Amino acid sequence: MPARIVIGGQWGDEGKGKIVDALAEQSPVVVRATGGDNAGHTILNPFGEFKMHLIPAGIFHPNTLAIIGNGVVVNPQGLLNEMAILKEAGVDISGLRISDRAHLVMPWHPLQDKLEEQQRGGSAIGTTGRGIGPAYTDRASRIGVRVADLRDEGFLTEKVVELVERKNRLFTLYDGPTLDAKQILEQCFAFAEQIEPYIVATEILVQDALDAGQEVLVEGAQAALLDLDFGTYPYVTSSFPTAAGSCAGAGIAPTQVRETLGVFKAYCTRVGGGPFPTELTGAIGDHIRERGQEYGTTTGRPRRCGWFDTVAGRYVVRLNDIARVALTRFDILDTLPELKVCVGYEADGVAVSRPPAGEGEWPHITPVYETLPGWEADTSAARALDELPTNARRYIERLEEGLGAEVAFVGVGPSREQMITVDGGVFGEALVS
Ligand code: GDP
Ligand code: IMO
Ligand code: MG
Repeated sequence: MPARIVIGGQWGDEGKGKIVDALAEQSPVVVRATGGDNAGHTILNPFGEFKMHLIPAGIFHPNTLAIIGNGVVVNPQGLLNEMAILKEAGVDISGLRISDRAHLVMPWHPLQDKLEEQQRGGSAIGTTGRGIGPAYTDRASRIGVRVADLRDEGFLTEKVVELVERKNRLFTLYDGPTLDAKQILEQCFAFAEQIEPYIVATEILVQDALDAGQEVLVEGAQAALLDLDFGTYPYVTSSFPTAAGSCAGAGIAPTQVRETLGVFKAYCTRVGGGPFPTELTGAIGDHIRERGQEYGTTTGRPRRCGWFDTVAGRYVVRLNDIARVALTRFDILDTLPELKVCVGYEADGVAVSRPPAGEGEWPHITPVYETLPGWEADTSAARALDELPTNARRYIERLEEGLGAEVAFVGVGPSREQMITVDGGVFGEALVS
């Protein structure tokens, strides 16, 4: 049984955590492949409610390996905090594995992130401030510190001393603080001691599992419209949260992927700056934000809210070969008398078929809407498609048509059981079939 990938289809926070938590029950291996603790995945299960930033949902399932893959950038303190929270809640974390090839978010990275955002002024990206961009930049510049480096004190010392000198030179340009290599090294050694038992060549674990016919599940972080190449550049994250990026970040070959499941909210949100053609800046947007409690899991920032965008959605569906969609947070729309769906883009009156590549093209884009009647009924108790009002089903059908993919699951609330499996059956089991 080959690999299955779960990715976000919009700008993040689609509810990937909930979907992966349900699926992980059936998967002996769950891998985070991209991003770092910029992710915030809410998981509600018998252990309680968790906001997971680095450790994949598999950790809650005994006998499941929860892997932080090679493509992830790991903030040591963030990881230790998360391990402590899980232990405190009685979760057995012995299934945790950390790739020796993963890069570390070093103390200079969040500082650099904030200083660079200040430099950008009015065109700031609105990053999570977690140092993700600078950590990936250093990885690409080949000056990153990897988890494997923690095993060699002498080498690590030389490297950190050199990098601190370099970063201090950079920070003087920004009027930033001065770093102390000795203090940073002490933190590294303490961290190394605590995570040593979990460090392995995770790509080999992944391949061994696939060889043994076991399912490997990738827990996508961020989302396709935040992808460095295909997202709304430069208002993106610094990794590749697509199906292809997930393969690279976990050590899976593209031919080993059985399915990429796309998670989409029933409307759109985004946190931070950047293009958002269907954004609702008035009362309806405020209503969705309050009803949906659309505030960032990682930063607490209010999320921008807007109508569902099938142009961007179809682009994501095609590039990731998504046949099945999990449509989440459907219940949040229950009170609206009518809904709009973006079914096309226009730029200065001319039809545009895909999200534009040029940053300067976005301000010209206007959405073309179709208006659908709302259902104005509580859907949170529905467990089958035919329990949804007719207008709710019409809305889903319109999204399917626009996306060019089948809606296989509909989320009607945050808990695991609040999920409609369109084909019937139990949510987690139906997904794996
Ligand atoms: P992720 O980053 O994609 O894992 O998503 P987040 O955890 O950042 O945000 C999704 C939020 O929606 C969380 O608070 C979830 O508990 C919640 N959620 C997930 N699915 C549903 C749903 O179908 N309905 C409602 N009302 N909430 C949901
Ligand atoms: P999950 O996995 C929503 C956004 C930030 C910012 C941009 C760049 O929970 O869906 P970064 O710190 O990555 O350099 O910020 O990307 N962003 C997210 N938005 N959900 C996320 O993760 C995000 N991770 C990054 O808000 O706009
Ligand atoms: Mg999130």
